[in-house]
Amino acid sequence: MSITPFGAMRTHGAGTLRAEHAGETVTVAGWVDTRRDHGGVAFLDLRDRSGILQVVADPESSDALEAAHRVRTEWVVKVTGTVRARPDGMRNDRLDTGDVELAATSIEVLSEAQTPPFPVEDDVEVAEERRLFHRYVDLRRPKMLRNLEVRAQVVSIIRRVMERNGFIDVETPQLTRPTPEGARDFLVPSRLQPGSTYALPQSPQLFKQLLMVSGIERYFQIARCFRDENLRADRQPEFTQLDLEMSFGDEEDIYSLMEEMFVEIFDEVLGVDLPTPFPRIRFEDAMRRYGSDKPDLRFEMELADLAEVFAATEVGVFKGVLDSGGSVVALALPKGGDLTRREFDEWTEWAKRRGAKGLAWGVVEDDGSLRSPLSKFMSEDELAGVLRETGAEPGDAVFFGAGPRSFARQLMGALRVALAEERGLIGEGGTEHDRWEFCWVVEPPMFDAASESDDPTAATSAGWVPNHHPFTSPAPEFLDDFEQRPEVATARAYDIVLNGTELASGSVRIHDAELQRRVFRFLGISDEAAEEKFGFLLRGFSHGVPPHAGIAPGIDRTVMLICGEKSIREVIAFPKTQTGADPMTDAPAPYDPDALKELGLRELPKPKAD
Ligand code: AMO
Ligand code: AMP
Repeated sequence: MSITPFGAMRTHGAGTLRAEHAGETVTVAGWVDTRRDHGGVAFLDLRDRSGILQVVADPESSDALEAAHRVRTEWVVKVTGTVRARPDGMRNDRLDTGDVELAATSIEVLSEAQTPPFPVEDDVEVAEERRLFHRYVDLRRPKMLRNLEVRAQVVSIIRRVMERNGFIDVETPQLTRPTPEGARDFLVPSRLQPGSTYALPQSPQLFKQLLMVSGIERYFQIARCFRDENLRADRQPEFTQLDLEMSFGDEEDIYSLMEEMFVEIFDEVLGVDLPTPFPRIRFEDAMRRYGSDKPDLRFEMELADLAEVFAATEVGVFKGVLDSGGSVVALALPKGGDLTRREFDEWTEWAKRRGAKGLAWGVVEDDGSLRSPLSKFMSEDELAGVLRETGAEPGDAVFFGAGPRSFARQLMGALRVALAEERGLIGEGGTEHDRWEFCWVVEPPMFDAASESDDPTAATSAGWVPNHHPFTSPAPEFLDDFEQRPEVATARAYDIVLNGTELASGSVRIHDAELQRRVFRFLGISDEAAEEKFGFLLRGFSHGVPPHAGIAPGIDRTVMLICGEKSIREVIAFPKTQTGADPMTDAPAPYDPDALKELGLRELPKPKAD
């Protein structure tokens, strides 16, 4: 015997009834979405996961009518009755079941409910704390159920694609040793070994590499990762990756596999035909053209470096910056000439909040001249250079940011996105191609200067931190001497970026213990420290390790973009707030002093609040 489609208590899902069911006697059950009681006749909208159905109770069935008077929204009821076509003019186009209604012969209350804390509707403004406190009610909203369905569908497609390509699902431990991915660890004190702790994995990175040593060859896992870092809209302290690794392959294998997977996901979930191969942009080019390692390619507006144009300039704010080795980065805003003086001032304030000294601007007039507070200092040649390099045309605005090169690029890159959002230029073309812009960002630097890193765990003695993680292989031309030229060394790493969001990161790994030690040493991790932290990896590498490569797409972020959400909290059933709390369970909770004792831990005095 197989499971009944809607549970033994029901014959149909509320949202599944159509005109062809007219005349049938059915039983449905779910939540009372709304109730309209006219005394002699009462209407209930009954909601279950499949949708909403209108139930009518009238005096012909006095028990049902009596029950309908009594029920309230969000009560759980079971209704038996006859499906009937709605009279002409009474059809409801907004419901999939809008051609029919259910004439109730019996209404049974399965569970009563308090007045809901907020309406179970998609577009209600409710404080997020409140939504998360009553998350069980919040998830009843059709959009939230749909998001969780989409998430499950995406994971199911991922599994299918991975299995079809010979990857096998292997679980790796959650109680383990620190895996460095640039965040702080969550620690779990051990009771059996007082004074020792496990760390929750920031990712399964080291285990998946060791699975390659084991001959698994193609591994994947829908892996939960834990990172104690500052939270943002696209970051949670625990999140889910598709984690994968393969042996005897290279970048091209990973690119093909990921493109196959995303094509399948977008086709099945959204009916969108993604063009492949995804464009590949070198990291350096992404920074130069878009001022970001996560370029949003749904609109153009490329940056222009005007260091040469202004090499001999009399414009004071540019000259000072250029003389001290900085750059002037400019950006044309198509049809930006209608910005008011006040709006330009607001953008200048916007730039200052991001640490800029100012933001210069101009508007290209019909005669090709530049209307700008700076134009009287600008030569004809410089003006021509500005128009040539930015591609600005009459009616466009031009913005200039002067400062240290990488700062100026990132500032103008952020301005590019903010302007495009503000002016509605994103996906303006209206084609699918304009809506979903994937790219690979490749050849990133091997290292970042520690001073520019937000990695709280950054090893400091060397002044460098890994741009990806320390297990990433340098590009072949830097294998011999990356230590001598860390500022230019590139890595065999790659990111997938979609619409300006980083979805995935991966790399070809180091598979040579000596090279791995050199990278550790360069990062200020001594051989002894490496042995202590990563001895098991290095030991594994001494037992025959195949060349291997892998990647990890974030599932939360992928589903967030597919669902059109602005925060990954909308696609996670029980997420944490920005302060890492769960208002519903009230986690994290104060600890029990006895439990501490058992763990061999002692309470420190609370830091004084100032
Ligand atoms: P990385 O640290 O870049 O790489 O993470 C890969 C992807 O995981 C997602 N992600 C997050 N999602 C939600 N909340 C977070 N706090 C969070 N942090 C990361 C992003 C990101 O692109 N072991 C390597 C992968 C590898 O080299 O194979 C790793 O974890 O989508
Ligand atoms: P100031 O000389 O500081 O009064 O600036 C003159 C104009 O140049 C103002 O519009 C400033 O916003 C702008 N400006 C100042 N510093 C910079 C900078 N580093 N980059 C771009 N514009 C700047």
